[in-house]
Amino acid sequence: MAPDFYNDETRVQLNPLTILRFEDQEFVTLQHPSNSKTLKIKADIILVLLDALTWKTVAELCKMWPEQLHDEVKKHLGMLYDTQVLVTTESELAEAKPAALLPETGDNIIINIENHFWMLKDVVRTETYRRAIERNIKAGDIVLDLGAGTGILSFFAAKAKAEKVYALEKRQDLALVIRKLSEENNLTEIVEVLQQSSHLLEASQLDPRPNIMISEILGNAILEENILEFTMDARDRLLAPGAKLIPSKLKIDVFAFDSGNLADKRLEVEAIEQQYQLHFETLKTVLINKPYMRMQTVNPLAIKIMSDPVEVKQFDFYQMTDAHFESKITLIARQEGSIDSFCAYFTAWLDEETTLSNSPWSASTHWTQLVFQFAQKRWVKAGEEIRIVFQYNGSSQLWFEADLN
Ligand SMILES: C[S@@+](CC[C@H](N)C(=O)[O-])C[C@H]1O[C@@H](n2cnc3c(N)ncnc32)[C@H](O)[C@@H]1O
Repeated sequence: MAPDFYNDETRVQLNPLTILRFEDQEFVTLQHPSNSKTLKIKADIILVLLDALTWKTVAELCKMWPEQLHDEVKKHLGMLYDTQVLVTTESELAEAKPAALLPETGDNIIINIENHFWMLKDVVRTETYRRAIERNIKAGDIVLDLGAGTGILSFFAAKAKAEKVYALEKRQDLALVIRKLSEENNLTEIVEVLQQSSHLLEASQLDPRPNIMISEILGNAILEENILEFTMDARDRLLAPGAKLIPSKLKIDVFAFDSGNLADKRLEVEAIEQQYQLHFETLKTVLINKPYMRMQTVNPLAIKIMSDPVEVKQFDFYQMTDAHFESKITLIARQEGSIDSFCAYFTAWLDEETTLSNSPWSASTHWTQLVFQFAQKRWVKAGEEIRIVFQYNGSSQLWFEADLN
């Protein structure tokens, strides 16, 4: 029987491997980890989802929303269940992780490579990977390209004289693109395309075993493509012992700033109130209490930087055993002024000498930065401490709190 999301006692939990992708400031796409089902929802509903990382009743999830929005939230829970990113029983949860890959059949598949065009056109990103591949891959190497996309990194590896390259890509349309491009480039003898999500791949499908893994599953929200989980899983199950990892290390930094004239969400709510001649004070309260998470390009010249960057966390891909973390950080105000936003960015070490970063001070790439913006400003004196907390609990999503009172 289908679960009743209009019953307050129905319990729900998010499938822990759900992939969240931020389309823009307004919308988030949720993707079931191993099939093609996706759902595009308003970013504000994300607040409900983040609460469903552990078992919650429908009533508990609705509690943080004004009553007039409860039906809307319940409707979304039903849609999330249909997309299989939400589960309602322990057995569904157990099945959610190793869910069977639902094969799509037929040749008439729609090929959606718009995002991959951005990545290919991002020569800073792509040439940095090419340099690292050329420096690290030697004749005879067996390479796993985890998340091959259009196959570009696999082709670099094949050209660097790898003996064999497994181009592993979960999407069927992209797997087809990689096959066609390998043919066009006469690389089919070297590049073997595997259409599967890495966590569902059996080690026995990789014979011989790879001694190098390359992967680029870094997102604007840094961890939302599950780079930590997928890298650890592949390292432990799929690669030869001691295999080289590219990237091998990831660091997240954060700094505080004053956004100046950047859009204040409360002003947008005021515009909505004016348009519909209704009161939406409750939504403004939600915006004040929780940071509004947005993907935006942070131009250091267009904002007032209020602290030096401080390291949130470093991940050594060779050593790490747990993706979850909580990091409590203190930022020191550089000068007197107001703070309303925090910018997080990553640096990935492709090898000892080659780094790639979406820091606002690095060469610009297709990545934006991850910004947590509060609807109220805190006035600080030079040298004053601002405490923040970052948390990651394996849900693809970094959680953030700051002491702005
Ligand atoms: C950011 S793109 C990079 C594509 C390509 N490597 C490049 O550099 O242009 C990541 C790709 O990895 C795929 N992907 C993500 N996680 C995966 C996984 N666990 N197993 C297989 N493919 C995955 C996505 O579908 C996407 O096409």
